[in-house]
Amino acid sequence: MTSLMAKSVIDKTSEKLELFGSIKELARQKNAVILTHIYQRLEVQRVADFVGDSLMLSKKAAETNADIIIFCGVHFMAETAKLLNPSKKVLLPDIQSGCPMADMINVDDLRAFKQAHPGAPVVCYINSSAAVKAESDICCTSTNAVDITRSLDSKEVIFVPDKGLGEWVQYQVPEKKIHIYDGFCPTHWQITSAEVDRQRINHPDAVIIAHPECDPEVWRRADFVGSTSEIYKFIENSHGRRFIILSEQGLVARIQADFPEKEIMTVFPLPLCPNMKYHSLENLYDALDKEYTEITVPDSIAKSARAMIDRMMEVSNRKETWSGPTTQNS
Ligand code: 13P
Ligand code: SF4
Repeated sequence: MTSLMAKSVIDKTSEKLELFGSIKELARQKNAVILTHIYQRLEVQRVADFVGDSLMLSKKAAETNADIIIFCGVHFMAETAKLLNPSKKVLLPDIQSGCPMADMINVDDLRAFKQAHPGAPVVCYINSSAAVKAESDICCTSTNAVDITRSLDSKEVIFVPDKGLGEWVQYQVPEKKIHIYDGFCPTHWQITSAEVDRQRINHPDAVIIAHPECDPEVWRRADFVGSTSEIYKFIENSHGRRFIILSEQGLVARIQADFPEKEIMTVFPLPLCPNMKYHSLENLYDALDKEYTEITVPDSIAKSARAMIDRMMEVSNRKETWSGPTTQNS
């Protein structure tokens, strides 16, 4: 006889499967594409047409023939998709899904920072508003920040808003002086150097891998530092068996699911971005059905902000882009 608990699990699973099918069917009817960041819940990743990091998803947004782009990520990612597709409808299932780091700089802050370092071009991390992008010289993601900065014909560069990534770029590009803004990712900065030291003692044979958004004291202790896609590819291609990931839990969960033969560990407290977890199968279905929340960008900034992304694409298209998790379309 099936226990009550087992029955409720089966009911829940079949409800989810039904919802999954309904989302796929509705997306087909409306010619919508579902783009999902790899920090999202696994079920939201599974229903996506494309899962990836912000660079890969920006490229997918630029290529799509869909009429509607539904973005399961944070606000600046949906805004970037809108900049690349001004005539298409771009939806963010839960409008609360913002990025606190992106909110740490506004146009006035950037103007003041530029005044303090006159003449230095501004590299703006994609984790920023369209208004801030519009006041910059070129955009970057964590995957291409080093290449983008190197590509600039200037001895001094301003980097906004992430100081973890900015310090990583400075370390990789010592020939330039980088003026780094004081923003940070609250999720990655939860990881402390004391916790990394503790993990190193407890698991001396594990490879420690950090996202460059971490505190420099943390990424300096890692064996490998890389963006989301670089972390994924590093583990995929490594012969090692034990890894400790210093990054967000959505990425950790996806790597655990895709490489069950490897031991993928994390740190405590769990680095979890609450803003990335607002989207669910339920609100994804509703958002697609009722077509909310539509993301718009004022005309006064759209053209300049778009130009920054185009410049980034020009530089980063010289290199092959990650095509997303290995299990992307299975
Ligand atoms: P990626 O550029 O690696 O997708 O990261 C975006 C982000 O918000 C990381 O915290
Ligand atoms: Fe922003 Fe950090 Fe969340 Fe990424 S993980 S969306 S940088 S708060």
